[in-house]
Amino acid sequence: MASLKSSPAWKALKAHQKETARAHMRDLFAEDPGRFEAFSLARGGLFLDYSKNRITAETMALLMDLAREADVEGWRGKMAAGDPVNASEGRAALHMALRAPLGGNGGGNGAGDGNGTAPNLGGVMPAVREAREKIGLMAEAVRQGQWTGETGKPVETVVHIGTGGSHQGPAMAVAALRPFRRSGPDIRFVANVDGQEITNALDGLAPETTLFIVASKTFATQETITNALTARTWLMDALGHDAVQKHFIAVTADAKAATDFGIRAENTLPVWDWVGGRTSLWSAMGLPVAIAIGQDRFEDLLAGAHDMDRHFLEAPLDANMPVILGLIGIWNIDFLGAGALAILPYDERLAGLPGHLRQLEMESNGKSVTRDGGPAQAGTAPVVFGETGTRSQHAFHQALHQGRRLIASDFIAALENPAPAPGHHRILLAHFLAQSEALMAGQTKSEAKAAMKADGVKGADAKTQLPHRVFEGNRPSNTLLLDRLDPFTLGQLIALYEHKVFVQAAVWRINPFDQWGVEHGKNLAGPILAELLGGDATGSHSASTRGLIGRIKAGKAETA
Ligand code: F6P
Repeated sequence: MASLKSSPAWKALKAHQKETARAHMRDLFAEDPGRFEAFSLARGGLFLDYSKNRITAETMALLMDLAREADVEGWRGKMAAGDPVNASEGRAALHMALRAPLGGNGGGNGAGDGNGTAPNLGGVMPAVREAREKIGLMAEAVRQGQWTGETGKPVETVVHIGTGGSHQGPAMAVAALRPFRRSGPDIRFVANVDGQEITNALDGLAPETTLFIVASKTFATQETITNALTARTWLMDALGHDAVQKHFIAVTADAKAATDFGIRAENTLPVWDWVGGRTSLWSAMGLPVAIAIGQDRFEDLLAGAHDMDRHFLEAPLDANMPVILGLIGIWNIDFLGAGALAILPYDERLAGLPGHLRQLEMESNGKSVTRDGGPAQAGTAPVVFGETGTRSQHAFHQALHQGRRLIASDFIAALENPAPAPGHHRILLAHFLAQSEALMAGQTKSEAKAAMKADGVKGADAKTQLPHRVFEGNRPSNTLLLDRLDPFTLGQLIALYEHKVFVQAAVWRINPFDQWGVEHGKNLAGPILAELLGGDATGSHSASTRGLIGRIKAGKAETA
């Protein structure tokens, strides 16, 4: 296969980039009054405006050629069929099955590929159905107070122990959907091995009314198991050895490891090797969400994601939200040099979204080796960061507006906000719109002069300030508007990004479903820990690490 950068579609885009390098979005909007309509798309409660990107109709056409050349549709079909698209681990990636309607006949979920053949989703639906029913039963038992602990008391607090994809998604969703929480226990999350986090989580809790969820696909992640052991000791010290049986749930692919830990088989929920951590929210990893909002609303979350699956599987490429977002990302990264992407939810309920999308994008596409083992030639994941707006404006928007690095932005907001604070939401949305407008338009010299005049800045001051108040603009952004933030639209939103990342991986010819880099880092920690605990120096470390180990060992020993 020709190298990516020598492919016809890539070369055509490169030429197009050169031809359009001097185009400014101000002019593109001025030249085409229908630009907003031409470059926006709605799906259910989600509206995408991608007109504030440095694109023309030709750009989009050339990007669609790139998608066809990369066989995005073919890879999409492979994933839906349960083929081993995670080639380095020989695994399927069937997160779409997790949220498929249970009415499916053991495979098809009605999310046809547009050619009348429903993807068979690898035939996993019977197992998915069983797990989903168990999630519902467990969640409702906890919510209704029917789940009682060692002393017969109902659960008042759930402590979810997990990290990475076994944490980010559930924590994000529980926070985002807080307004939909009815009764039911408080939910706390522990993800870091820093003892402060589990200490904080256990603070003020009564063992007899506390339920732990140990969420770990491998049941071997050191941070999670360390936290789980600490939690188990805390519980057993108070209620005795047998209390584990009623106060621990496991979500894992290794049921034996959970049993060995002391968790009953009936309190163990499955995840499978065809579910990647960062796309596992829809599985039993989402149990805390179901406990928080109830099984019916958890099903709404799944239904929203499924709706986006149908759109992704069935819509033509040029009217396909994940494809459009993915290709514009490639245009920004590989052709305009935007090495970073800011995720800017103007909604405090989505405070966890930047963190979730950071893992989704950077752990999936932060790769330098292609599917077939060669060097990745282009792009791969941008640095994804973010913060809720308007907080972000007082943190890093200066760099977005006037930094020398081009940073793309995704603005996200909901039309409705249930907060009982009259007037606040319109102010929030005004800033939401102003920022993307300012990034696009910048400020010309004459506008800067007018602004200074309005501010009463004159003479030498005006002369000094002028260069600092001229912004080039032309900074690209997408705007996603949700009718409201509810389980369905949150499901749509998250699935949108999951498929966006998949589209980019298909074009970049990389595997978005493995994470060997992370595994390597984890493996290095083992021998270092042994040395920190007094073991002999292995000598295989750099002088720096050896020196640092020495200083740590010479320092104040860890408090018992
Ligand atoms: O971050 C690496 C990773 O493997 C993620 O993909 C995963 O979500 C996380 O660690 C936790 O893994 P586990 O669920 O097996 O504890």
